[in-house]
Amino acid sequence: MKIAIFYFSATGNTSRMAEVIKESFVGLGAHVDDYDISSYASRQKRYNLNPYQAIVFGAPIHSWRAPRVVREWLRTLDGGNKKCSMFFTYGGFGVHPTHFTTRKILSDQGFVVVSSAEFLGEHTFNLGGWKAMTGRPDESDFLVAREYVAGTYKRFASEDPEILGELEKTNYREEELDLIESFRFNILTKVPSRDGEDCSMCMLCEELCPASAMDAQKGLADKEKCIACLRCVTICPEGVLKINDMTQTWPFKLEMEKIDEETLQQKQSRSYF
Ligand SMILES: Cc1cc2nc3c(=O)[nH]c(=O)nc-3n(C[C@H](O)[C@H](O)[C@H](O)COP(=O)(O)O)c2cc1C
Repeated sequence: MKIAIFYFSATGNTSRMAEVIKESFVGLGAHVDDYDISSYASRQKRYNLNPYQAIVFGAPIHSWRAPRVVREWLRTLDGGNKKCSMFFTYGGFGVHPTHFTTRKILSDQGFVVVSSAEFLGEHTFNLGGWKAMTGRPDESDFLVAREYVAGTYKRFASEDPEILGELEKTNYREEELDLIESFRFNILTKVPSRDGEDCSMCMLCEELCPASAMDAQKGLADKEKCIACLRCVTICPEGVLKINDMTQTWPFKLEMEKIDEETLQQKQSRSYF
């Protein structure tokens, strides 16, 4: 069986899970091609899905949904009744309604979604001082990934059109979810910007920005376009792209989510069939 994995990953958690998922499918006898669709340029290409019997889509959760740029890209695809699965990585907080809203997009595009999964990963805002899910994903998450792949592979291979069961519906309207998405700038108050003399003008931040928001000459991300994924901060070889210190907001986040650090850290990855 030929499978394609398309994944978006700004800071490495989703790409790590995509690797484990790929290895597991290969271990079951599948041929797997993987495509990194994180950069803006990579999503301007047209991908031929015809050679594949099934597709897997992976993305981080950004404000309770797949990132805006991923949702936009998914809406350009033609599923042609092909089987697919989705998986997400997240920092231990809001998951709902990610599975539901992404499945809706994929179904609208003509895919048949057979399974889904969510995996814990270090929260992106740990780069600013949060302490969510440090050290994740780890072996416990990889174990869930292998189980997810085993169940998904069975469904991909089967003639039986067994599909993903009903998911918890959302009462939030699209505009409300968009508003929630805009709250990221209440925490990331300073968009990535150059701070320091050591920039080599390698242009990586601009070339690899998922939202085409970074201007390397100016050393500043455009706030209107920026999705706060912090890919630029992570990949900058000189480490000169900076954000604000978010340490102060961490206790408030825990209070708002009504959870303590220890309980948060004990959360487990899971799959949905
Ligand atoms: C703008 C933004 C919004 C996020 N929203 C959520 C969220 O709603 N719930 C959550 O648990 N984690 C959230 N996270 C954390 C990421 O989902 C998590 O760190 C993810 O594993 C990052 O994947 P990556 O390393 O592949 O980019 C958010 C991160 C960013 C940058």
